[in-house]
Amino acid sequence: MKYAFPDNFWWGSASSALQTEGTREGETTWDYWFAREPNRFHNGVGPQHTSTFYQHWKTDIQLLKQLNHNSFRTSISWARLIPDGIGEVNPDAVDFYNQVIDELNEQGITPFITLFHFDMPMAMQEIGGWENRDVVDAYARYAQICFELFGDRVLHWFTFNEPIVPVEGGYLYDFHYPNVVDFRRAATVAYHTVLAHAKAVQAYRAGHYAGEIGIVLNLTPSYPRSWNPADVKAAHIADLMFNRSFLDPVLRGEYPADLVALLKSYDQLPACKPEDGFLIAEGKIDLLGINYYQPRRVKCRDSAVNPQAPFMPEWFFDNYEMPGRKMNPYRGWEIYAPGIYDILVNLRDHYGNPRCFISENGMGVENEQRFIENGQINDQYRIDFISEHLSWLHKGISEGCNCLGYHMWTFIDNWSWCNAYKNRYGFIQLDLETQQRTIKKSGEWFAATALNNSFDKE
Ligand code: BG6
Repeated sequence: MKYAFPDNFWWGSASSALQTEGTREGETTWDYWFAREPNRFHNGVGPQHTSTFYQHWKTDIQLLKQLNHNSFRTSISWARLIPDGIGEVNPDAVDFYNQVIDELNEQGITPFITLFHFDMPMAMQEIGGWENRDVVDAYARYAQICFELFGDRVLHWFTFNEPIVPVEGGYLYDFHYPNVVDFRRAATVAYHTVLAHAKAVQAYRAGHYAGEIGIVLNLTPSYPRSWNPADVKAAHIADLMFNRSFLDPVLRGEYPADLVALLKSYDQLPACKPEDGFLIAEGKIDLLGINYYQPRRVKCRDSAVNPQAPFMPEWFFDNYEMPGRKMNPYRGWEIYAPGIYDILVNLRDHYGNPRCFISENGMGVENEQRFIENGQINDQYRIDFISEHLSWLHKGISEGCNCLGYHMWTFIDNWSWCNAYKNRYGFIQLDLETQQRTIKKSGEWFAATALNNSFDKE
């Protein structure tokens, strides 16, 4: 069967500043943490060893062109642009981002720019990070500076990439700095991130810039083990905590009442100011980026909660390992392509069918060298993964979902936070020793699909 996509469909990929650029003036939480606990990073590889985009941006953009990208998302590094977070703008950073943006536009690749992709300037973390409302203001200033510097040529802005991840990693589950385990502080970080998002949207609207502004959320559809009311309730609470805590404010301009009531009953609500509600209502977006990697399967808890243990989302559900699920064993994530369709249908039916696109989807695989044939990685598994997801996305579009494009994670194999280079996601293989780039089979497949605006699949 032929799967054809609408005209002007966005074909591309996503990356981020910290994971690709390398060499940087401003310190981030990642640099700080790595210097102190290199053992927390796979093979002790830290954020200075990335795919050298700062040096190779021009040839890398040529490669994007070869992959027939018509759009590409990356982020601006707040710490590179304003090394102490709040002070002077670094002119070298302005030059660098100007060159990248201009070159992308010149090559016919529309730049999609994220303002914050997990990379908190250390100077901002030292004053409390997202727990401090001064950091919210500093971020709003940074956002406004970016709009002024680049807003004439960047028409698609994203305030945050997966804002729940620094909440989970930094304040609940110990996989980002500052390694706190405290739900109330996590809720404060999440809440202040929403305020920061809304302030940036407000500034963007006030400046009457030419383009649109949105956010990128990692949506994990929450599937109950069964239709038993106890399982359904567990899935509903997981959905409130992990999806709707950001989805509702940015699309509806308010939090779900039952989420607020639940957290209130456990005394976990962050401190709110009366004017916050108006601000959040002004943070409604033009465009939603959806990162989809895996579903969340849950069941009601099998055991009673230990009241001495820290309050956690898992007080309300157990994770459920569905028999027969298909796994990506390298990342430990379930592969479930229909999830992409379920997300789109949910947005269509419950959120007014917003303009959206898949901003990340992908498969990290370890030791891909074993698949080299005639000098090229034959990653047929990635082609199968993409085409399967695209066929479900196609079904969503054919049923009226407002999905405008598909970006893969990622372009060139890059540095993946604590996993460093363990799992490779790229269309292009990176040789860590020589920095040589070689297009994988999936890159060729994607280039053909983008060129034809369609692909064939049985
Ligand atoms: C997303 C992020 O969570 O998934 C990326 O936006 C990240 O920054 C990607 O690299 C893949 O996840 P991981 O943890 O395997 O790198």
